[in-house]
Amino acid sequence: MSDPCSFSAPNRCVTKHLNLSLRLDFDRHVIRGRVELTVEALEHRFSSLTLDTRDLKIISVKANGQASVFTTGPKHSFKGTPLDITLPIELSRGQHVIVEVTYETSPSATALQWLTPEQTAGKKQPYLFSQCQAHHCRSMIPCQDSPSIKHTYYAQVSVPKDLVAVMSAVRDGQDVDPQDSSRVVYRFRQSVPMPSYLIAIVVGALESREIGPRSRVWSEKEFVDKAAFEFSETEAMLKTAEDLAGPYVWGQYDILVLPPSFPYGGMENPCLTFATPTLLAGDKSLSNVIAHEISHSWTGNLVTNKTWEHFWLNEGHTVYLERMIGRSLESEQFRQFKAMGGWKDLQESVKTFGADNPLTNLVPSLEEVDPDDAFSSVPYEKGFALLYHLEELLGGPEVFMGFVKSYIQLFAYGSVTSEQWKEHLFTYFKDKVDVLNKVDWNAWMFTPGMPPVKPQYDTTLADACIALAQRWIKAEKSDLDSFKKSDVKVLSSHQLIEFLSLLLQEDPLPLTHVQKMQQVYDLNASMNAEIRFRWLRLCVRSRWEEAVPLALKMATEQGRMKFTRPLFREVFLFAKYRGEALSVFQAQRGAMHPVTSGLVAKDLQVDASNTSSL
Ligand code: BES
Ligand code: ZN
Repeated sequence: MSDPCSFSAPNRCVTKHLNLSLRLDFDRHVIRGRVELTVEALEHRFSSLTLDTRDLKIISVKANGQASVFTTGPKHSFKGTPLDITLPIELSRGQHVIVEVTYETSPSATALQWLTPEQTAGKKQPYLFSQCQAHHCRSMIPCQDSPSIKHTYYAQVSVPKDLVAVMSAVRDGQDVDPQDSSRVVYRFRQSVPMPSYLIAIVVGALESREIGPRSRVWSEKEFVDKAAFEFSETEAMLKTAEDLAGPYVWGQYDILVLPPSFPYGGMENPCLTFATPTLLAGDKSLSNVIAHEISHSWTGNLVTNKTWEHFWLNEGHTVYLERMIGRSLESEQFRQFKAMGGWKDLQESVKTFGADNPLTNLVPSLEEVDPDDAFSSVPYEKGFALLYHLEELLGGPEVFMGFVKSYIQLFAYGSVTSEQWKEHLFTYFKDKVDVLNKVDWNAWMFTPGMPPVKPQYDTTLADACIALAQRWIKAEKSDLDSFKKSDVKVLSSHQLIEFLSLLLQEDPLPLTHVQKMQQVYDLNASMNAEIRFRWLRLCVRSRWEEAVPLALKMATEQGRMKFTRPLFREVFLFAKYRGEALSVFQAQRGAMHPVTSGLVAKDLQVDASNTSSL
């Protein structure tokens, strides 16, 4: 089986370990690197191998210490450039070779964002962060960049001495750089085998604070205390997850709060979850993202999708575990409420892609498809919906969690396909095969659009949201005075989010309605990013011109793609402000994350290659 997103032929050889030496150059925005890959041959008479690269300058290649011949192929739009290496020796199956590549990254490496001091909270020091998932590691390190391959790593990172480096690994000390006394070398060890997309690095003026027996929060000093408060439930969540899924094998579980341009809500980098600062709501109401990233320690990081076509195995199971943690720490009703919200997110994704778009398949073909273009709520929420449907059919949450745990145990330290998952499901529930055979597997896995079955969820917590949304939808102008501040005072922030999501599913409210809503609920004042995001979209859809600058401000002040892309798109669809959306984007794109700016450019139908860094 091959990986449509990699040139590195994981069926011919596999990397077992990486030894990295990185030297960061903040003036030139490049990393000068040397990587030693320990590679095992899987076939007889093995004499050449291919690594994935993207925009890397390859300086030299050695195999077992001997200079080697290498060539690079043509650049593919998203797979990058294959680096073909001829070995001076022939290996037989099971033998190892150490391949050493010296290289330099490009300032426009898609895995990296280099921030100037002005772009940081402290304003004094520069900052660098990486985001390798799905296929960007190759722009930082030449490697076999496929989730089917797992390896350990060791790293030494040289940075200017006022900066601190952290990685997705256990910290292994630091010393003055023997080659330059103005620099410090930080060392890291990851002794659990993991896929390349989980390699991660951050360098900046970082500080940290302990929040639990195995956890610290890291960020610029401006956010450390706020983050420590927001994520104070971390140890409770870890314990709950261990009860559900088995021991946590990664040692440390730290959380790093990134600058606002971080493109995701959270990223499950081992030992060091990355989090967007938009989670800092001040009331712990967005902590489900941490429950989610913690859950990836089992589903994703221990058991990994074999290729990005099976991404739902990572995200669907992780959402399932995340909601099981919510069930333990809150209630079953809360889980059902969140599941219902997820179904709504799935409906929105299916609508955006189109119900016949093959990218809405649970298991899509990614032959010549960029994983960043395929990304959506579908693998998360169609995946969750399938698991929840199976849970209902097979005997409830406790029974189904037994299966999830055994799936984790069986495939721990490996990478799996949807077929292997299904095979284990049939083995585990061998007494209920008749039930399993009634599931329309082809419709669930390989058919676009909404799933064939709509699960029923308890509506206890949703009822208040539904009732209030209905009042607004049905209200005539003359009814508007019946709305009161107290309508929302009784709603939790989760319910307020749900209320706004319900309105976003309907035709736009009349302008008078959203103006009245502002007058009574004052949602413009909300600093909860999930609330603000939905509210501003609602206003722009109702063609409220005053909301346009607020929407564009939110789209650019933070860069979480879940918010930034729809906000830009929403303003772009407001004909009168299309030009404004475009000019704000053009003015900001140079300061944006490379992946975010590329995707927003596609969304707004602007030339995606016209990035400032090229
Ligand atoms: N692993 C993902 C983020 C990701 C996916 C990055 C694909 C790059 C490519 C992470 O675990 C995630 O799903 N984050 C969500 C959290 C949410 C579902 C609770 C996010 O960023 O919003
Ligand atoms: Zn996830």
